[in-house]
Amino acid sequence: MGDMKRIGVLTGGGDCPGLNAVIRAVVKTATHKLGFSVCGFLDGFHGLIDGRARPLGYDDVANILTRGGTILGMSRREHYFRIGEREKGVRDRTRDAVRVFRRMRLKALVCIGGEGTLTAANHLAGAGLPVIGVPKTIDNDVRMTEQTFGFDSACAVATEAVDRLHTTADSHHRVMVLEVMGRTAGWLALSAGMAGGGDVILIPEIPFHWTALCAALRARVRKGRRFSIVVAAEGARPTGEGATYVSKPGAGKAVRLGGIGTRVARELERRTGLECRETILGYLQRGGSPTHLDRLLATRYGHGAVLLAVAGRFGRMVCLAGGKIDSVPLADVAGAARTVPPDSPLLAAARAVGTSFGDTARFGKNPRFQRISS
Ligand code: F6P
Repeated sequence: MGDMKRIGVLTGGGDCPGLNAVIRAVVKTATHKLGFSVCGFLDGFHGLIDGRARPLGYDDVANILTRGGTILGMSRREHYFRIGEREKGVRDRTRDAVRVFRRMRLKALVCIGGEGTLTAANHLAGAGLPVIGVPKTIDNDVRMTEQTFGFDSACAVATEAVDRLHTTADSHHRVMVLEVMGRTAGWLALSAGMAGGGDVILIPEIPFHWTALCAALRARVRKGRRFSIVVAAEGARPTGEGATYVSKPGAGKAVRLGGIGTRVARELERRTGLECRETILGYLQRGGSPTHLDRLLATRYGHGAVLLAVAGRFGRMVCLAGGKIDSVPLADVAGAARTVPPDSPLLAAARAVGTSFGDTARFGKNPRFQRISS
């Protein structure tokens, strides 16, 4: 494959700001001085399987650095490859993907995506394809990298939402509950909640206790605070219970979390008598233009992915380590998400400034609140 001078690129999973910036960096890096050509598969793995692709030259990527979404379209991986238990009922299209790749005589396939796409990329690497991964997602839950692109942009939107909720909460003396995305990880809720000065942050990694949550709000009332802001990750859950879903996991189907914000608002109102309102931020977090940080990160990742391809270092994902672009084996990334660890310095700082996580930690030795360990 050494003399092949064409690289394929695809975007998989859910979209986020910065995808076009990566595509642009891949195309410009590969074509500018290295003499490669690039083709983009349409609609993620779907286009790879069906052989739907378009050439991507300099002109095709002009003016897309700041544009949200992806010029290539997306797909969810669960529909195409039988990788684990979850895909048991799925028609496996691995052979089709390999056939198309070989027919197009590509040197490498750059897969831009989150944990699901990167797991599929690792699967294709196992099937013999020279694959390189680029970590994307607003959830920031890809293992082995300090940050995914898309996360900073989503944090900016969610932080602005918290800021805006503050003023209306203050005027009406209400408890405002904001539900943000994040799947099974609390990075987005934690970061935006902290940056916006949320009073309570609920994340999947710390199951919350209704009693502790209500106590945190009542404590604010006692201090004369007439409003409160609760930021809830979509995957947050009360202790001893599962997460709240819009649609449950099923063979070949993407899981959809959602609804915890409404549940928290209703339950808090019932238990405390305080007036509560909920806002579900939803897809606003994924749309629109990338932030300055995401434009840089996406450009550096795209550049790094091409350098890996040219060096023939396949089966790897570009990553951010100590602020520098590096790479790690895809096998170390695949199959699991990166969640907020209990010893995260972010958690320590949030607790230090008085943020409640709806657990009992901030109540110290008060015997009314046993520490919750689940
Ligand atoms: O992984 C990104 C993400 O936006 C999650 O935060 C959210 O749970 C999910 O995608 C929503 O996915 P869909 O596009 O399938 O509704």
